[in-house]
Amino acid sequence: MNSNFLTLGIESSCDDTAVSVLEGQRNVKADFISSQIKEHAPFGGVVPEFASRMHLEAILPLIQAAFSQAGISSPASELSLIAVTAGPGLMGSLMVGVMTAKAFAQSWGVPLLGVNHLEGHLFANVVASEDLLPPFICLIVSGGHTEIILVEDWGQYQLLGETRDDAAGEAYDKVAKLLGLGYPGGPVIDRLAQQGNPEAFRFPVPLKGSNEIAFSFSGLKTAVLWTVNELQKSKTDLPVADICASFQRAAVTALVSKLERATEVTGIQKIAISGGVAANKGLRKELLKRKYWEVFIPPVIRCTDNAVMIAAAGYNSFQRGNISDLSLAPNPSWHLLS
Ligand code: KG4
Ligand code: ZN
Repeated sequence: MNSNFLTLGIESSCDDTAVSVLEGQRNVKADFISSQIKEHAPFGGVVPEFASRMHLEAILPLIQAAFSQAGISSPASELSLIAVTAGPGLMGSLMVGVMTAKAFAQSWGVPLLGVNHLEGHLFANVVASEDLLPPFICLIVSGGHTEIILVEDWGQYQLLGETRDDAAGEAYDKVAKLLGLGYPGGPVIDRLAQQGNPEAFRFPVPLKGSNEIAFSFSGLKTAVLWTVNELQKSKTDLPVADICASFQRAAVTALVSKLERATEVTGIQKIAISGGVAANKGLRKELLKRKYWEVFIPPVIRCTDNAVMIAAAGYNSFQRGNISDLSLAPNPSWHLLS
């Protein structure tokens, strides 16, 4: 590990403004997150216009706080790299982080690197464990993405499968909305699922019979909607915990069964998960049951969006020879494999 190498990480792709200072590959010197959940909650989802305005308010105070915690008084001479999420994400949100990073990179004379948000999620695992070395399979499962990636080496990724429609986190958020549970839906459904009966409703497990490595969550969401409509017609109280548990059983079964398929196809039994849905207790439990897998799971705080993962991905990518120039522009649909 290069212990004098300090990376400033900046993340603003969606509704969290996050700033970190990382030494080398995994020594966290500062880790700050300003969440906008409360502001977006009344709308049942992220309002892009609000998100970018709030990033603008939060970002400089967070950088100041991170420097203060990391003991950085002269960023121009102490920082080795500025790593910023450049996509995928919301355009207005990404612009705030990217413009801030570019302005500081230019004025301090520090190298700049645009990082792919999904590669960032992947690197949450690298920060958490130095034992995780390629090749391995990574399930990236968040509010915007559900993908199984083969990590052949750092920077060399092969897409094994992805969702055809909704991301898993999106399905959690939509189901929570129709049950009146607020936003974001994942944590609350996960909590209620622990109290409910997963066998109460036989929701379909998406693509259960298919050998293909792919996901589809829109049908599952619609099945929950129909069930809720039927129950409401009969004027009975909604068994919310049972619905959550049954939905979670179907969603987790779909995720884990496709991981099983990916291990069969590749012969690789080393699994990492990342992204907001990787915080899910049901998913974690199912994965850890499979003793024949070597499973890597980041701590919950590093599953959801954060800037430590961005600094870690940036550090690694910079060591591989990558660098951006001041023409760096956000790419809202930047695919990890492009
Ligand atoms: O990675 P993330 O913070 O942002 C994106 O890049 O999308 O993921 C947010 C998503 C939301 O859809 C949220 O509902 C979901 O992760 N999530 C969870 C849990 N915690 C967050 N889903 C299931 N179970 C959880 N415990
Ligand atoms: Zn994310």
